[in-house]
Amino acid sequence: MSFTNIILTGFMGSGKSTIGRILAKNLNTYFIDTDNLIENFENKTIKKIFEEEGEESFRQKERYCFNWIKKSVKNTVISVGGGFPVFIPEIKEAGVVIYLKVDFQDILKRMNEEEIKKRPLFQDIKKAKELYEKRDKIYKNLADYIIENKNMDETIKKIKDIYGS
Ligand code: S3P
Repeated sequence: MSFTNIILTGFMGSGKSTIGRILAKNLNTYFIDTDNLIENFENKTIKKIFEEEGEESFRQKERYCFNWIKKSVKNTVISVGGGFPVFIPEIKEAGVVIYLKVDFQDILKRMNEEEIKKRPLFQDIKKAKELYEKRDKIYKNLADYIIENKNMDETIKKIKDIYGS
């Protein structure tokens, strides 16, 4: 079976990694999470990378990931960090881009303390909300498809329908 990469974008806590992993299993293919890739490669958490090297350095690592994916990755479900499409607007060159949209209030409900701690750009809720508003437009503009991610099973079914069409 051969298909282009499916790239899941969306705000922090929108379920990209969880859905991506299950979707890849369903499609019997590979799964990559760019945050995990960076953490494994650097042997450091994202939080540590932000603290020790700064956001710019992290964005550079995302850029390396993108270049590698574009050149060498096919038939794969990829979930990317929330800022990835913002800093790499050419994201579509690496696959079909699906924006998993979740309302900010629902994101807040889903995130526990531990999930928040891991995310340097989610430390101040007011700032995170502003970031959400700004990015929502960017995600929409850069997406091939937008899916309201309310229910995981339904979302996976919708993506499979897109893939099948
Ligand atoms: C970020 C989102 C995070 C991670 C980093 C920066 C962002 O990924 O890449 O903390 O800029 O929105 P998730 O979207 O998986 O939380």
